[in-house]
Amino acid sequence: MAIILGIESSCDDTAAAICVDGKIRANVVSAQLRHAEHGGVIPELASRMHQVHIGAVVRQALADAGLQLDDLNGIAYTAGPGLMGALLVGSSFAKGMALGLGLPLLAVNHLQGHVVSLFLAEPPPTLPMMALTVSGGHTQLQLVTDHLHYQVVGRTVDDAAGEAFDKLAKLLGFAYPGGPLVDKNAKNGDPHFKKFPTPKMDGLDFSFSGLKTAFLYYIQAEQRQNPQFVQQHLPDLCASIQHTIVSALLDKLFAACQQYGVGTAGIAGGVSANSALRAQFAQRCSQAGIQGHIPAFEYCTDNAAMIALAGYYLFQRGQFADAYDVPFASSRSSAIY
Ligand code: KG4
Ligand code: ZN
Repeated sequence: MAIILGIESSCDDTAAAICVDGKIRANVVSAQLRHAEHGGVIPELASRMHQVHIGAVVRQALADAGLQLDDLNGIAYTAGPGLMGALLVGSSFAKGMALGLGLPLLAVNHLQGHVVSLFLAEPPPTLPMMALTVSGGHTQLQLVTDHLHYQVVGRTVDDAAGEAFDKLAKLLGFAYPGGPLVDKNAKNGDPHFKKFPTPKMDGLDFSFSGLKTAFLYYIQAEQRQNPQFVQQHLPDLCASIQHTIVSALLDKLFAACQQYGVGTAGIAGGVSANSALRAQFAQRCSQAGIQGHIPAFEYCTDNAAMIALAGYYLFQRGQFADAYDVPFASSRSSAIY
């Protein structure tokens, strides 16, 4: 039996989870809502709030699982990428626990964690799989050949999809993070109210920064005619920008499946919580005869369940990290990136 504690603190969620033989027994997330008033994540504030919450979150995960510290067999943590000060809180806590308890330390890459979130479902996806990881910081197409290995075959050249949602939402007056609010307001809107140019990128890469500029110029011009334009058409505007982003993402995902001859596709990361993305993905998968996978809502945005499961895979392979090592810098590190 292997019982792994996972710790995630790369951005603004302080999270801990327990994985018992590949199954999640506890999953605790403390979301830092205070960033909303600043319009984005303030790194120093994020680190301080991780520092406040990390002990309680780990204790709660153990309590939810009905386990004691002595029951643990390994400590997994997010080693990067992420905000350095935020990562330091989780990594220091994990290293302290591993050293203090004499347990193996398991260093997990955050993006690998999002891919692994697709394996939390039953039945898990068959491999190879084309994964689209779409979060606030990243947008990547990954050819997944193994639980812990993938090849990046496409990426954004500028903004991440979640970042695009958040920036467009900000132009509409929504608080951070605006992605979920665009999703909510789009439910009563017309996705074809306004067609925005989809960025034409070669191959499997994405670009979203032009959409923000096009949208800004569009609403500025409309508001000169009608100052109430945004308020009057909020659901239609939300549905139109959501449709643009979702179509751009899915077009490339299905092109990638075809190009690499892959019959399984998955979408992970915070944006995979988007209801239009989920619905259209399901529809296009059935049309294309592709097996589609998307995590349950609790595993879309940042969480430690995905880190604990990735840690379990590392544990099974004996790929341990050294608490005295810095996984970002050392070539000797066993971190999986
Ligand atoms: O994976 P995640 O929690 O953190 C990062 O690793 O970045 O992703 C957060 C991102 C934010 O940009 C947020 O606006 C977006 O995911 N997001 C959504 C939805 N839920 C979260 N975007 C669109 N629709 C949603 N329902
Ligand atoms: Zn993430």
